[in-house]
Amino acid sequence: MKWVEEDPRDQTVIRDLRETLLEEIKLQRLDPDPFRKTAPRDEVYLGGAIRLGVMPHHGFMYGIDIISLIRHLLVMGQTGGGKTTVIKNLLLQILQVADAPRIMILERKQEFTELLAKYPEFNVLDVNHLSFNPLLPPEGIKTEVWIGVFTECMINYLDILEASSGFLMDHALRLIDIRKKEGTYPNLNDLLSFIKATKYSPMSKNGQQQQTVINRLTNLLHSLPGMFNTSRHIGISELLNDHCLILLHDVPHIGIQNFLISLLMAQMFLHRKVTAGLQGGLKNLIVIDEASSLFRRQDELKGHPSFISDVVRTARGYGIGLIAASQLSTDLSHSLLANTNTRMMVGGFGRSRDTDEFLRLRSCTPDLRDYVIRHPVIGKAFIADNRWPHIVECNMDNPALSPRLTPDELNQRIQDSFFRMATFAPPVPAEGPKQPVSPKPTPEPETVSLEIRTLNSMYEHHFVKLSERAKQLKVPSSTLKKKIDELQSNGLILIHKVHGRSGAPRDLYELTESGCRMISLPPKKMKGKGSYLHCFYQKCTANWFKSKGYHVDIEGTALGKNIDLIARKQPSGECVAVEIELNSSANPSHVVENLKKAANTDFIDRILCLVPKEPERRVVEKLVTKAGLRKRKPIEIERLWKYMES
Ligand SMILES: Nc1ncnc2c1ncn2[C@@H]1O[C@H](COP(=O)(O)OP(=O)(O)OP(=O)(O)O)[C@@H](O)[C@H]1O
Ligand SMILES: [Mg+2]
Repeated sequence: MKWVEEDPRDQTVIRDLRETLLEEIKLQRLDPDPFRKTAPRDEVYLGGAIRLGVMPHHGFMYGIDIISLIRHLLVMGQTGGGKTTVIKNLLLQILQVADAPRIMILERKQEFTELLAKYPEFNVLDVNHLSFNPLLPPEGIKTEVWIGVFTECMINYLDILEASSGFLMDHALRLIDIRKKEGTYPNLNDLLSFIKATKYSPMSKNGQQQQTVINRLTNLLHSLPGMFNTSRHIGISELLNDHCLILLHDVPHIGIQNFLISLLMAQMFLHRKVTAGLQGGLKNLIVIDEASSLFRRQDELKGHPSFISDVVRTARGYGIGLIAASQLSTDLSHSLLANTNTRMMVGGFGRSRDTDEFLRLRSCTPDLRDYVIRHPVIGKAFIADNRWPHIVECNMDNPALSPRLTPDELNQRIQDSFFRMATFAPPVPAEGPKQPVSPKPTPEPETVSLEIRTLNSMYEHHFVKLSERAKQLKVPSSTLKKKIDELQSNGLILIHKVHGRSGAPRDLYELTESGCRMISLPPKKMKGKGSYLHCFYQKCTANWFKSKGYHVDIEGTALGKNIDLIARKQPSGECVAVEIELNSSANPSHVVENLKKAANTDFIDRILCLVPKEPERRVVEKLVTKAGLRKRKPIEIERLWKYMES
């Protein structure tokens, strides 16, 4: 400053000064505070074949190489921060690379389905089609070892006390032993029946463990019906050799999702370990959302090694890499945090323990901590990348995506994938030497495909008119009619004629047990509550009440029990409980029980019991009078047809 004062009008001095200042500003741009020590001066360090975004302040690109994913990528940040977006961007680029690793997306929230439209080679599996036998060891793995892993997955994620692990393992191994002598191999269904059939005193330790295990297996049966299927099987090599997206959003409980994910990961890992051994290169990439519920710190604190931690630590040796997303970092297992090459915080955690946890991964200055806390912006990432000693800042790209598949297209993809991947009979493992891998099924001719599509459509929608269904299946009505006749004569479906209040009878389609087996779905109940006919009448009666200005709850609750319909009229508030009894003559005491619970419920004003035919009406009339139910509430007993929509 001193020399400026010497001659303030001297232009050369001012020019010099400006240049020095510009130089200073430029330097600051390259090294802005608080990133003076952290931003790379040279673009080469943090570039890569896959571009993820741009580092602000100096405009360098941030990218990674596919091979680095073998040491895993973890994307953390609060909800809506852009985690999924980063991963989608990455996957889109990987899919364009020749010889890309096979991608398995374990999809909890239907966020990745946008990738499907553009990549027809992506297989899609949903819960009903995940038919692999979890008791079956991966090729080359001893049964005892595998049952140990299976048990651990059950204990960890299905809320079973560790004390029950011995019980579970013991029963599984005993059953496998018995079946092996008969030349077969048990499935989860067999295990459930086996455990149910063993007698223990209910108050004994074994009895209590038995009850817990039965409850968990029954829950699994309802949540993962495909796993109890004995006619179809998807082998682990099919899952490893293709891109696939596994839709988990229909699995009701995150614990069950994690049970399934941990089983799949264990299968993949062990299969690779035995068949390929140590190898270079990234062969499979597994994408997992909500990672903190799967890789849990609490499991590491139990004091014994957990299988999933081992997978995280050693998977790279077998060509398996992970991409995980999580809304938390404090609950994540140390093994994941420590074994991850690239960790990002996208969209910020704000001022929280998670921020501190993330920053602790690279020792950070208080300045940097403040800076990070002040920038919780969607799409902005702070990245701990093993190639650079300090945390870097990056504005992530938001790629344009092709439109999602329509629900019909998605269903079609699910069915096609299943037929591509599943083999008809589940394999039985041989003792000792390796099993030959079961051959892929020959592609099914178009006619079979229509059969399967029709069955699937009827399984979901049993009242759809012929012309409407033909439109959905994209075939002429006459072709579909022929197919339906064929299905009926082959005993795969039953057609009921249901009479409405007026007009011609409508067709109601029901899949027989062999029909369900054909499409590998669990049979639906034929009689009573939950059956096709019951649902049908429930719907029709609900429509009748709605047309009369009632608000209707299907499966409403009274005294903790379900009532088929609860109809409320506004504004009077009159409340009618409707029970539909299709088998009143076969099970009269059940009818009385059902009506009693409605009669004992305060808010219900009157009860309507609907039965199919006149003789049944008379039977119920007598039962109600005998039980004295009318002393509590007015009860009408009527024929169903009166309440059918016209
Ligand atoms: N880099 C980005 N630039 C602009 N917008 C973005 C960027 N990343 C994400 N977004 C937008 O933010 C929204 C949320 O992103 P995303 O679904 O990826 O968040 P998330 O972290 O996965 O959330 P969640 O934890 O709920 O799954 C999206 O609508 C997306 O378009
Ligand atoms: Mg997300």
